[in-house]
Amino acid sequence: MSASMPFSRIIGSGSFLPPNLVTNEALAADMATRQIETSDEWIAERTGIRQRYIADRGVKTSALATEAARRALADAGVDASEVDLIIVATSTADFVFPSTACIVQAGLGNKGAAAFDVQAVCSGFVYALTTADSFIRAGRAKCAVVIGAEVFSSILDWNDRGTCVLFGDGAGAVVLQASDTPGIIGAELHADGSQMNILTAAGNVAYGQVTGDPFLRMDGQAVFKQAVTVLDRSARSVTADAGLTMADVDWMIPHQANLRILTFLARKLDVPLEKVVVTVDQHANTSAASIPLALDVARRDGRIQSGQLVLLQGVGGGFTWGSVLVRM
Ligand code: UT7
Repeated sequence: MSASMPFSRIIGSGSFLPPNLVTNEALAADMATRQIETSDEWIAERTGIRQRYIADRGVKTSALATEAARRALADAGVDASEVDLIIVATSTADFVFPSTACIVQAGLGNKGAAAFDVQAVCSGFVYALTTADSFIRAGRAKCAVVIGAEVFSSILDWNDRGTCVLFGDGAGAVVLQASDTPGIIGAELHADGSQMNILTAAGNVAYGQVTGDPFLRMDGQAVFKQAVTVLDRSARSVTADAGLTMADVDWMIPHQANLRILTFLARKLDVPLEKVVVTVDQHANTSAASIPLALDVARRDGRIQSGQLVLLQGVGGGFTWGSVLVRM
C-alpha cells in the first residue's frame, strides 16, 4: 500500500437481526409462567425498550456476524476476496477457540486475511473499529470488515428480571477501506479494570466443565452513573482533540443500553435528542452489535448522509469505554 492513502473510511454497512421478535408483553407473559413479575410499563418507562430479537437456541454469533458482513460487503461493492482484515467484537464467541472472526472468514469464503476477535463487551465495536483504523493507517491492511455481533440471550439468567429484560441479539458490520481523505478523524479508548465487578459474566470452561457463574450480572445503577459520566467526558475530549465541538457533530450514536442514558447524555452535552440515533426501543441492548446496528439503520433510512460527522460511543463491561469520530 502506498503512503498516499494514510486514512481509513467507512464505505459500506450491513446488519442482521434474528427473526424471532419478542415484545415486552410477550416476555412478561413468559416470565409470569415462572412467577417472575415484570411488565411492558416497567421496561418501557425505565429503559425505553419495547422489543428485542432473540436467536433460536443453537444459533451462533458467527452466523449473525457473517450475514451482517455479507450485507456490508454488498453495500460497499467489495468482494470478500479483497478483504485483508476481519475483526469481530463479541462477548459471546461461538467457542473458546477458534475466534469467531475465523469462522466468519470461512463463511465469507475469504482466504488469507488476518482474523481475530476483540473482547471489550459493549465497547467492543469502537475498540475493533479503532484497531482496524490503526492497522490501515500503519499500512498493515487495506480493506477491513469490522463486525459487532452477539447472542447475549445465551448468557442471560432468564430468572433475573433486573437483567434479562434489557438485552437482545444481533449483528452489525462496516467495511473500512484505505483512503486518501480522512474518514475516521478521531478515536480514544479507555478502561478501568478496578470496576470489573459492576458488569460481568464471570464463568469459564475449564477442566471439562463450566466454572464460575455463566450468567451476566450487573449493578445497574452503578453502570448507569458511570456510563453517563464517561460518555460525556469522552465526547468532549475526542471532539476537542480533532479541533471540533459537539455543535459540529451531525449524529451521535452512543451504545444503546437505555433511553434514559441517551437522554441524560444528550442533555449534558447540550445536543438535541433529534441528533441521537435511537434503536434501543427496537433492538434492546445488543452489546457490541448495538452501534453498528444503529449506524446501519440510520444510513439505510437516509438520516446519515455522506460528508456528515458521526460520533460513535461505546461503554460497558471491563469497565470499558471509548469514542470514534467519523466523517462519512
Ligand atoms: O451495556 C451496558 C449495560 N447496562 C446498562 O447500561 C444498564 C444501566 N442501568 C440501567 O439501565 C438501569 O439501572 C436499570 C434499567 C437496569 C434499572 O433501572 P433503575 O431505575 O435503576 O431501577 P432499580 O434497579 O433501582 O430497580 C427499581 C425497582 C426495584 O424494586 P424495589 O426494590 O424498588 O421494590 C427492582 O426490583 O424495580 C424493580 N425491578 C423490576 N420491576 C419490574 C427491576 N427489574 C424489574 C423488571 N420489572 N424487569
